[in-house]
Amino acid sequence: MLIIFIGPPGSGKGTQAERICTRLDIAHLSTGDMLRAAIEAETELGSQAAAYMQRGELVPDQLVVEMVGESLGRANSSSGCLLDGFPRSLPQAEALDGLLQREGKQLSQVIELDVPDEELVQRLLARKRPDDTSETIQNRLQVYQQQTRPLLDYYQQRGLLESVRGSGTMEEVEERIQAVLPTRD
Ligand code: AP5
Repeated sequence: MLIIFIGPPGSGKGTQAERICTRLDIAHLSTGDMLRAAIEAETELGSQAAAYMQRGELVPDQLVVEMVGESLGRANSSSGCLLDGFPRSLPQAEALDGLLQREGKQLSQVIELDVPDEELVQRLLARKRPDDTSETIQNRLQVYQQQTRPLLDYYQQRGLLESVRGSGTMEEVEERIQAVLPTRD
């Protein structure tokens, strides 16, 4: 089982990924969490990524793809994996295709979480992460529209996309996701 969550900042990818991964007993790979851990650990990757994240821009594809390639390799033995926040650009999606092809694996499903912008901004301002300032949030929303949203077409054309309304309580959203999840292969 290999699932991707796509959605704008604050749409609940991380919140729902934790719930679904616990329920399905699959690995949760969040590129945002991995990058924040790299910054915290003061690694070379962390020092390269920090300024991009602070501005709300995407970290360069090459750095992120390398990081995900290593993590996917490590997650290989588990019963599956949910990618939260990756891919976020067409080059990343193509790189993921290559990684999966080499390992003889296939995507099971791509789930879009759809939430109106006003609600996203309210959620993020209430959270107060370092990149949750008004200016950075606006930039993250714009980056989502320009660089990540085109992936919806990419996966729609392959019959892999399910869109889920991400407003409502966390439990309601989880139920909607549950309803569109593929049966285990
Ligand atoms: P990342 O950490 O992935 O941030 P993001 O995509 O901006 O998403 P968020 O974590 O803000 O939101 P979320 O959708 O996970 O929602 P959450 O569950 O947290 O990436 C951060 C940065 O890292 C990027 O800007 C980029 O620089 C870099 N990066 C990461 N991946 C990259 C990649 N692939 N390529 C290049 N760069 C990359 O919820 C948000 C808030 O809402 C929480 O407070 C939560 O409690 C609340 N909430 C959740 N659900 C609900 C609900 N139903 N009702 C009310 N509140 C809710």
